[in-house]
Amino acid sequence: MTQPAAPAIKAAVQAYYGSTLQSSDDLRTSACCDAGSVPDGLKPLLARIHPDVLARYYGCGLVVPPLLEGLRVLDLGCGSGRDVYLLAQLVGPGGSVVGVDMTAEQLAVAEGHRQHHAEQFGYANVRFVCGEIEQLDRLGLEPASFDLVVSNCVVNLSTDKEAVLSGVRRLLKPGGEFHFADVYADRRVPAALQQDPLLYGECLAGALYWNDFLRLARAAGFSDPRLVADRPLLITDPQVAARTGAIAFHSATYRLFNIDGLEDACEDHGQAVIYRGTVPGHPSVFPLDKHHRIETGRVFPVCGNTFRMLTETRLAPHFSAIGDFSGHYGFFGGCGSTCPFDGTAVEATAAAAPMPAESVSAGGCC
Ligand SMILES: C[S@@+](CC[C@H](N)C(=O)[O-])C[C@H]1O[C@@H](n2cnc3c(N)ncnc32)[C@H](O)[C@@H]1O
Repeated sequence: MTQPAAPAIKAAVQAYYGSTLQSSDDLRTSACCDAGSVPDGLKPLLARIHPDVLARYYGCGLVVPPLLEGLRVLDLGCGSGRDVYLLAQLVGPGGSVVGVDMTAEQLAVAEGHRQHHAEQFGYANVRFVCGEIEQLDRLGLEPASFDLVVSNCVVNLSTDKEAVLSGVRRLLKPGGEFHFADVYADRRVPAALQQDPLLYGECLAGALYWNDFLRLARAAGFSDPRLVADRPLLITDPQVAARTGAIAFHSATYRLFNIDGLEDACEDHGQAVIYRGTVPGHPSVFPLDKHHRIETGRVFPVCGNTFRMLTETRLAPHFSAIGDFSGHYGFFGGCGSTCPFDGTAVEATAAAAPMPAESVSAGGCC
């Protein structure tokens, strides 16, 4: 996959987030702004975050999965630190959050409010590191030491997305999770547009075509990427819209579990789970991803990969597991995946799938 000229693009991104933008209001499109509403439960936590930090929030989604208490978390491209300080409250004094960013001005805002937030929360569990997310191995972070890696509207800005994904995999513990929001295009962005500093800074020109993202994720060892949420991005600036033409952009949140040996498709091993209703905030239904809403107490048939995601991660205490991998009953259609043959119970719809939601069904699963 073509990579734009890295040093020039990096310098442009640093200038964009370091000095061109002073606050979210300066953005020329809605690409990097979270138009979605924040869940009510998080509002009091956001209210404790310093206004200077909030003013420089440029995220495009929510990177707050459930069950965070006590976790060790890494935020890639943390910017001024909004998500770091939000997650710091959710992991609590027994957990910790490390934020990495390459732009000095952004880190200065984050770092400058560390003491303020320690006083607000009653504990200090945050630190910031200056560095590039393509070189996570140079930041003194111990391999296999993080339970969760998050990122909010940053991977699209990277000029070496393969390096980012493999670096994340190296830092995650077994069963850990990369949970991140980003911008995706409905096709490959032409090389000429990829060199446009404004479009790049606005999180459009570096956006991956969604199916290329799935390929990269699998190549990095995240065999079954799961789509959590997505929304279309509106390009409101007429000049920017004229340059991007017919390309459609979406913001999407994926969760990638670090589980060795996941299958490359949904396979039916005759397994099921029963949700205990015990994840805080989810007494009746547990949403694993966009395609799995698992009701409390109900026997819920799953493919082998979903079975492992629910039984080999921090989610395990909240599920009873039924079955093992001793049998195989063919392709698992319950995730919306496809079987190529006519006359089977599973309809073949993948070829026409246009957007990330369907792409997950078409490729790995669910
Ligand atoms: C769109 S902003 C998002 C910031 C933050 N995640 C938030 O939600 O407010 C992108 C951030 O990623 C940082 N960034 C972009 N490319 C990077 C890279 N290759 N390495 C480290 N940081 C990077 C920028 O400096 C900027 O702070």
